[in-house]
Amino acid sequence: MGSRMTTVENTPARPAVEAIRHHYEISNDVYRIILGPPMMYSGGYWNEGEDLREGHDEAQYRKLDAFIELAKAKGANKVLDIGSGWGTMLDRVTRLHGAKKAVGVTLSRTQKEFVDSLGNPDVEIIVESWADHTAEEKYDAAFCVNALEHFVLSSLPPKERINSFRHFFGHVHSLLKEDGRFVLHMMTIEPPPLQRKLLDDLKFLQREEFEGCYIPHTHELIQAIGNKFEIIEIKNERETFSEACRAWLLNLADERERAVALSSEEVVQRFERYLDIFAYTLEDKVFNNFRIVLQRNP
Ligand SMILES: C[S@@+](CC[C@H](N)C(=O)[O-])C[C@H]1O[C@@H](n2cnc3c(N)ncnc32)[C@H](O)[C@@H]1O
Repeated sequence: MGSRMTTVENTPARPAVEAIRHHYEISNDVYRIILGPPMMYSGGYWNEGEDLREGHDEAQYRKLDAFIELAKAKGANKVLDIGSGWGTMLDRVTRLHGAKKAVGVTLSRTQKEFVDSLGNPDVEIIVESWADHTAEEKYDAAFCVNALEHFVLSSLPPKERINSFRHFFGHVHSLLKEDGRFVLHMMTIEPPPLQRKLLDDLKFLQREEFEGCYIPHTHELIQAIGNKFEIIEIKNERETFSEACRAWLLNLADERERAVALSSEEVVQRFERYLDIFAYTLEDKVFNNFRIVLQRNP
């Protein structure tokens, strides 16, 4: 198990580290209440007609297995998870799918503590920004599951935002072996209708809860991929994320008192508000959640 921990500086290319930690460094136990045993903070693959709560854990594992298959990461020598959360992908790809080593990068120190506590010797978790990550031995496959939403500052002028996304895809390209695959789940935004409540809610997401994070338009994302990768598949899976938000809201409602005791009324209210906003904006087609499968071009 790796123990690298680097200092992460705020620069225009890196959304404020403190803003990320404001969201991710509340108690791991509160996240456990919300996310349940899988500790996945992204969309899930429910089967038709499956109950949101009862099916939640399996839906998360099903998603991971599908991603691992699409990335051809079974039995791989080395895989990377960018924005790896609580390490469930890293743990699963090594324990269940025969990958020899899995490396995760995150900005959250509490997530690193959690991943270290899993005691998986084939997993290395590093507190560092994706932009600082280098690797002597290149990766066979990479994932970025609902994390790229955090990587580009909304305060940048539009052209520089695309350049930041381009820089991200270029960096992943440089970390992968020649025929490596990169699988991501990523939200994009449609031009939102001009409604007062929606605008207030989007402002809350961007200015308070996820300060400075930029969710791009789909064409900006595609433009940024450029010729670095061949697009094998792009599929809108909005409902995978809206359903997950709904399931997490139910989990939180069930154990609200304990969540408040572990954090505060203010934190719990923030989570209730932002999860509801994501759920309804995904349902209303304001946000998309694309699964994108990429194959590295030479
Ligand atoms: C919504 S969570 C998703 C976690 C995980 N992929 C999952 O599906 O459960 C976003 C993750 O991105 C990480 N993150 C945000 N900005 C980052 C950056 N600049 N470099 C690396 N990780 C970052 C956060 O620390 C967090 O682990």
